[in-house]
Amino acid sequence: MVNTKIIAIASHKGGVGKTTTAATLGSLLSSQGKKTLLVDLDAQRNLTSTFMGTKFNPEMTLYESMSRKAPLAIYEVRDNLDIVPSSLDMGALDTVIASRIQRETILRDILRSLNDEYDWILLDCPSQMGIITVNAFTAANSIIVPVSCDAYAAEGLLQLIKMAEIVSSGLNPSLDIDGIIITRFHTRRSLDRMVEQDLREHYGDLVFPTKIRENATIVHAPIMSLDIISYDPKCNGAKDYAALLKEIEERLR
Ligand SMILES: Nc1ncnc2c1ncn2[C@@H]1O[C@H](COP(=O)(O)OP(=O)(O)O)[C@@H](O)[C@H]1O
Ligand SMILES: [Mg+2]
Repeated sequence: MVNTKIIAIASHKGGVGKTTTAATLGSLLSSQGKKTLLVDLDAQRNLTSTFMGTKFNPEMTLYESMSRKAPLAIYEVRDNLDIVPSSLDMGALDTVIASRIQRETILRDILRSLNDEYDWILLDCPSQMGIITVNAFTAANSIIVPVSCDAYAAEGLLQLIKMAEIVSSGLNPSLDIDGIIITRFHTRRSLDRMVEQDLREHYGDLVFPTKIRENATIVHAPIMSLDIISYDPKCNGAKDYAALLKEIEERLR
């Protein structure tokens, strides 16, 4: 796929803002007229619930496509925004495909069949560095890594980068890590400023200039089954993500 930008939003940690980032960027992109596909790779299916509600329980999900090559289950969210939902079964996918040859390229091959139908595809990864995340790295042009501001923020980041380097030196030479996003930043907390300084010292330009501030609206929006752009387009979270999107587009150019 020449024109589609495929972004894996990944981290070995949960609760850092992967799903929030996928939902918000997807909503922003689609509102700008860019045809966007969200792919929920996580058995927790938070991204699916954000857009389709917690009761949405379709027969066909990403699991069927990846485990038995069923056609990709695409559901329309709104104009320019589609989603491939996840299901609890995704938790067993590792085991189901473990002995399959070329198990790392399943997702890439599925997405290739879309033939540039989308401008952007955003992959919301699970919080483990297992075979599902390797599939995402193999399918993507770019990885972005949300890091939330806590005492162990940078722990495991090197392993993630190393894994991305392994994938880019073999299965997917066109893969870049495009950046680390500082998320859940408390402006008034000294720990957060220390974490930021530490990340910028170690990872330099890899860290996006824009930070995503801690913002109560971000917590409320998914409870209403809404992304924050639909819930409150003027909140700090929406503003921060809009600034971040500009930086992401700049890096991908
Ligand atoms: N910037 C933020 N401010 C406040 N809450 C946030 C922010 N980013 C994420 N959250 C909240 O933190 C929790 C975990 O975020 P989520 O995006 O689901 O992380 P992940 O997908 O990495 O597990 C969710 O309840 C979400 O609403
Ligand atoms: Mg998530």
